[in-house]
Amino acid sequence: MADKSVVYVLNGPNLNLLGTREPEIYGSDTLDDIAGRLEDRALTLGLAVEMRQSNHEGHLVDWLHEAGAEGAKAVLLNAGAYTHTSIALHDAIKAIAVPVIEVHLSNPHAREPFRHTSLVGRAARGTIAGFGADSYLLALDAAARL
Ligand code: DQA
Repeated sequence: MADKSVVYVLNGPNLNLLGTREPEIYGSDTLDDIAGRLEDRALTLGLAVEMRQSNHEGHLVDWLHEAGAEGAKAVLLNAGAYTHTSIALHDAIKAIAVPVIEVHLSNPHAREPFRHTSLVGRAARGTIAGFGADSYLLALDAAARL
């Protein structure tokens, strides 16, 4: 049954290491810290958050399909490095009716050239990047307004 109040927050490879992974780029918050902040914010917005992380591309594809089948309100997707390489994620975003918001902690455009292309961004409703953990909260606010 469609649940328009659920926002899926899908996280790709290496994001399980947030907190210790290159903190000068990604900050010191763990993914659990971010999940807690998102849940608090979601409560005030009348939304629920379904937070997931996988290092495997196919899991992210399956979860996008699930969000579509469940009639989620939106998906916040930080696909990590798959952002720049995955036609499968691009196609999965195109295949579902649920709006997908691309999220990044860092600003990929200010980094190495191989991060300047986003296949996710070509299919997403919009992108929020460069605000650290706040990128997720800003994206949740954007999802609430859709
Ligand atoms: C990232 C940016 C990507 O380029 C990188 O591969 C990541 C994290 C970000 O949140 O800033 O894993 O998606």
